[in-house]
Amino acid sequence: MSKNNKVLVLSDDVAKRRDMVTILEFIGEEQVVDGTDAFELLKSADADSLDDISVAIIDGEDESVVETVASICGCTQGVPLLLVGDPTLKGLSTDDSARVIARMEWPLNYTKFVDSLYRAQIYRDQFSRSRERGQQRGLQLFRSLVGTSRKVHQVRQLMEQVADKDVSVLITGESGTGKEVVARNLHYHSARRDKPFVPVNCGAIPAELLESELFGHEKGAFTGAITARVGRFEMAEGGTLFLDEIGDMPLSMQVKILRVLQERTFERVGSNRTLSADVRIIAATHKHLEDMIESGDFREDLYYRLNVFPIEMPALRERVEDIPLLINELIARMEKEKRGSLRMNSAAIMSLCRHNWPGNVRELANLVERLAIMHPYGVIGVQELPKKFRYVDDYDENRPVEDTGMPSAIPGLVGLDAPALLPVNGIDLKDYLSNLEKQLIQQALDEAGGVVARAAEKLRIRRTTLVEKVRKYGLREEEPEES
Ligand SMILES: Nc1ncnc2c1ncn2[C@@H]1O[C@H](COP(=O)(O)OP(=O)(O)OP(=O)(O)O)[C@@H](O)[C@H]1O
Ligand SMILES: [Mg+2]
Repeated sequence: MSKNNKVLVLSDDVAKRRDMVTILEFIGEEQVVDGTDAFELLKSADADSLDDISVAIIDGEDESVVETVASICGCTQGVPLLLVGDPTLKGLSTDDSARVIARMEWPLNYTKFVDSLYRAQIYRDQFSRSRERGQQRGLQLFRSLVGTSRKVHQVRQLMEQVADKDVSVLITGESGTGKEVVARNLHYHSARRDKPFVPVNCGAIPAELLESELFGHEKGAFTGAITARVGRFEMAEGGTLFLDEIGDMPLSMQVKILRVLQERTFERVGSNRTLSADVRIIAATHKHLEDMIESGDFREDLYYRLNVFPIEMPALRERVEDIPLLINELIARMEKEKRGSLRMNSAAIMSLCRHNWPGNVRELANLVERLAIMHPYGVIGVQELPKKFRYVDDYDENRPVEDTGMPSAIPGLVGLDAPALLPVNGIDLKDYLSNLEKQLIQQALDEAGGVVARAAEKLRIRRTTLVEKVRKYGLREEEPEES
């Protein structure tokens, strides 16, 4: 059942109540509670029912209004109040009075009434959202790490434990699994977030240049050092240094890094002035450092220094259930950067879920980019996928979903029925969009059995907005189902 959809009308005046209930029902409020039922509800200690109240409209003599307001504020949280008339609120606490978000004259002005309800809805939504935010802090925290699988959930938990601690973190995992995504997230959720995040790819910098890259050099320190140069450690001062591909770091550098970790100091190349380093180190590698220690290619002491808090990234093939979400995210990113777009039908997505993904998320990202170039704004079916990604046929899309274990509705991905392609002769965009809007509203109403509130939820718009649109398009709502 949807939350926050009960409107309480608290008044002893039968005629006023009838007028208000008529308007409320007209604009699609499906759960209006009035009269003694409303007062009874307040007295009940049923937490669920009380939590479900979206707004309370209160009418009455000064004293009874004060009593009702205090009673609602005492048993509910975040419920906005609308008063009829201009009662004084003498004796109420400031907090309780602050819940009154509007006063309405009698007889009611329709527009003002609807407007006040609309404001009440915003107030209520904001309260629910901030409460949810509190509850889901962990989930909200690392939003750019897409995924809802158990494996990603575990990674998020580890991240949450370590983000704001000033310890070294070692992120391991195959190439393209999101190690850098994790490193950046850790930095931006640490106390160092206002200071720089400085990445260094240890594998990409020639060994002989790595020292000066990391520690900087003085003018004339070596042939070619025409000017002095600040190294990455200095750049990252106060922030985080991300040592990517640490497994590629030559042994001669490993010992120098170890010294910084132990002593928190270093010197620029060609200088004997000791500089202090207030830098958090996050390192990453796709190599097996333990094997490298065995073979003498990685220093054991450095390994233990870095591996204070290990985070292992799962391969994409171990969390195929995240593939639809990732595709969605990758398409959204392209759209945001105005680099094009595409849609995939469910057979194509299913096919991709069967791939082994040796290159992990990076391979998926590359595929999505490539498809967007080959089929700009197109709808990708299995046939449009490069051969090695074809594991099913397009007609498999109609197979029962139980066969595949994949969710039937994939959020944000449009099926074959909606290929938005610009016709050769152009289109009337306004007409096209309002048609689309009309169709989606009708579908939502049908699916919601004509219940406006539920349809509005599906469309993620306000009930009042939907009522207006239904009227504008002349869409007749069917009778609500009995629930
Ligand atoms: N969970 C995720 N959510 C969203 N995007 C992701 C996720 N994981 C990886 N990506 C994207 O995939 C690409 C590769 O990620 P990243 O560079 O962090 O991987 P990596 O493990 O550091 O790979 P490599 O070892 O090849 O450097 C990036 O474009 C990144 O934005
Ligand atoms: Mg990387």
